[in-house]
Amino acid sequence: MKVSTLLTGALASLTAAQSPAPYTDAKSGITFSTFQHSSGLFFGLALPTNNTGNTDFIATVGGKGTGWSGSVLSSFRKAAQYGSPAVTTGTFSQSPIANGTYVNSTHWTYTFLCQKCIQSDGTTFKTTDQTANIGYAVNANAPSQKTNVASTVTKHSDAGQVEFDLSQAKSDKFDTWKAYAAPKTAHSFQA
Ligand SMILES: *[C@@H]1O[C@H](CO)[C@@H](O)[C@H](O)[C@H]1NC(C)=O
Ligand SMILES: *[C@@H]1O[C@H](CO)[C@@H](O)[C@H](O)[C@H]1NC(C)=O
Ligand SMILES: *[C@@H]1O[C@H](CO)[C@@H](O)[C@H](O)[C@H]1NC(C)=O
Repeated sequence: MKVSTLLTGALASLTAAQSPAPYTDAKSGITFSTFQHSSGLFFGLALPTNNTGNTDFIATVGGKGTGWSGSVLSSFRKAAQYGSPAVTTGTFSQSPIANGTYVNSTHWTYTFLCQKCIQSDGTTFKTTDQTANIGYAVNANAPSQKTNVASTVTKHSDAGQVEFDLSQAKSDKFDTWKAYAAPKTAHSFQA
């Protein structure tokens, strides 16, 4: 009884702390439904209101300029087992949005258009879903090779799942924001 009460209490506080909320990035002007992690790391999601045929989203990730940060490198990874996930490639791509990608006096921020990232096979959420549970894993330690996008990464110090109400991430400005993205190719850059 005690254990289940404790667990319920812990889950309730976790849920309360992890509800994504609207956040507008001041530099790009893009509004995201954003999950704020207790470490200062955040992940925001933006989607179009019209789902038909859509496979794209815009995301912003960032964190406080403490621990290991300073330049931003990005790659797609896929975990096949416990361990540092390997780089994976496919038809999906990410293209940075220049004015949503910066380092200021307190934070680093990377904003990108993720094209063909919503997979219909169930690997991700579907565009028609009401909610999406998005997992994360974080560690403030540096990757072993800081300038290599394919570097191995250290085991997470914290991980979890966040439920996004997808209706909160939708905007009819999506197509305008999507056009801010640079042509796909860049997988690594200095911010
Ligand atoms: C961000 O850049 C786009 C062009 O890429 C521009 O249209 C938009 O107005 C900029 N956002 C702000 C808030 O200045
Ligand atoms: C939604 O997008 C589809 C595919 O681009 C298009 O055919 C349709 O007209 C759009 N619907 C609305 C209401 O804009
Ligand atoms: C720096 O950018 C972050 C977003 O990553 C924002 O929350 C914060 O207010 C900005 N800090 C300053 C000092 O402008």
